[in-house]
Amino acid sequence: MHIKELFSLKKKIILVTGGAGNYGRCIVEGLAEADGKVITASRNLSTNEAFVQELKERGLDVHALPLDQGDPASIKALKIAIEKQFGALHVFVNNAVARPMATYDAPMETFAESMRVNATGMVDLMREMTALIVASGGGSIVNIASMMGMFGPDLSNYEGTSMTQSPPPDYYFHNAGLINLTRYWARMMAGKNVRVNCVSPGGLFNHQPEQFLKNYTKKVPLGRMANNDDIKGLMVLLASEAGAYINGENILMDGGLNA
Ligand SMILES: NC(=O)c1ccc[n+]([C@@H]2O[C@H](COP(=O)([O-])OP(=O)(O)OC[C@H]3O[C@@H](n4cnc5c(N)ncnc54)[C@H](O)[C@@H]3O)[C@@H](O)[C@H]2O)c1
Repeated sequence: MHIKELFSLKKKIILVTGGAGNYGRCIVEGLAEADGKVITASRNLSTNEAFVQELKERGLDVHALPLDQGDPASIKALKIAIEKQFGALHVFVNNAVARPMATYDAPMETFAESMRVNATGMVDLMREMTALIVASGGGSIVNIASMMGMFGPDLSNYEGTSMTQSPPPDYYFHNAGLINLTRYWARMMAGKNVRVNCVSPGGLFNHQPEQFLKNYTKKVPLGRMANNDDIKGLMVLLASEAGAYINGENILMDGGLNA
């Protein structure tokens, strides 16, 4: 196959959860620019629809659907809506994240709420979307975890800022779980033509306080945080035929911070 064809997402129906969030926007944009038909699903339908409208004006094939990842009925409804409106699913980017827990010592209820969405809801969603992909003849699942699922927090990044020096434990727990769940899922999909991979990004530039940026970027060999384009190529690789023999992998994308 020609290399341009290998990287093309033409005729691929792609779901990105949390597609109007910080990394989600970059992922949706990249997959749509590579000619995919991209559905973005999240709780906040008006933000989602405004983002979709923005991309449609640029001629991209993007659609919005509602999803509450913590609600099994909403997950079922999303599956039915994709079947009805699009007839298939080829790529699932598991990107949404709820952040109900703020600090190390936040109430345990906030940890439980995080697990409800980021663990229980996520596995429910993965099972339903996997069933759709299998019924569509196979495809690719890309889990978005974090470098924080691979390493402990570096508290020195917050020195001299008013940002919390007490990162919440739930985020480290569920992202680490997602990395190994990727390996589990890849093995469970043996013989079904479904590849399952994970991307563990580093911090995305989002106008963080100057002192934080200084603390963080001096440790990164590339000297900067991730920008909005950095994740696009990796997503297209993993979603397309160009990544056809990459399976069960976790790719750290942190500019060399943890090298
Ligand atoms: N932003 C970063 O610097 C960074 C760094 C490393 C990894 N990540 C990873 O990237 C992914 C996206 O993170 P982000 O920073 O873009 O997050 P974000 O907070 O900007 O966006 C999260 C998205 O998830 C959606 N969401 C939250 N709860 C939901 C629910 N119950 N049902 C459906 N959708 C729900 C939100 O509506 C939003 O669209 C996460 O997996 C995160 O771990 C982010």
